[in-house]
Amino acid sequence: MSAIFKRKSVRRYLDKPLKKEEIDIIMKAAVSGPTCVNSKDWSFIVVTDKKMLNKMADLNGKPAEPLRGAALGVLICGDYDKAFMYAKDYWVVDGAIAGENMIIAATELGIGSVWLGTWPQMDRVEAQKKLFNLPDNQIPHSIIAFGYPEDPNDLKEERNDYDMSAIHYNNW
Ligand SMILES: Cc1cc2nc3c(=O)[nH]c(=O)nc-3n(C[C@H](O)[C@H](O)[C@H](O)COP(=O)(O)O)c2cc1C
Repeated sequence: MSAIFKRKSVRRYLDKPLKKEEIDIIMKAAVSGPTCVNSKDWSFIVVTDKKMLNKMADLNGKPAEPLRGAALGVLICGDYDKAFMYAKDYWVVDGAIAGENMIIAATELGIGSVWLGTWPQMDRVEAQKKLFNLPDNQIPHSIIAFGYPEDPNDLKEERNDYDMSAIHYNNW
């Protein structure tokens, strides 16, 4: 619970690689999420290469700048071939769940992260697809940038800015 409540977007990172064990935990969290009819209709490209992180940033719009200083970037893709045949669009839900799981796992490890929107901005989708030579059935969904927070106070305290007004009980 504490990781959920401490989480916030962290966009500036120390110039320090993540440990392999930490990356493994983050990726295990990704594939631990539920998927529609257990389709596991995702795939992930785990990027630690600085040149590739910069190329991903080049192709994902100005808001993707945090990737340039990140220790890790993960491109979440939807696997359209594996998606639930009667309602393929669930691939988007499944990718989002995997992404949030990664973020919560990273927070628990003291690793900062920020979600970088890709799908449904199709220019970004096509550009990432080309960069990674993805097969046709793979659809870039989102990128998440990770790194140890530059600000040592980040992720230390639970937040208190919850918007409870969005919650309705039993009816609108
Ligand atoms: C679908 C989605 C796309 C996002 N895209 C970006 C982005 O491109 N660049 C960025 O810096 N933050 C991005 N964010 C992070 C949001 O700006 C952030 O979650 C929001 O401002 C709330 O702040 P918090 O995460 O600290 O609670 C994105 C978040 C989501 C869920």
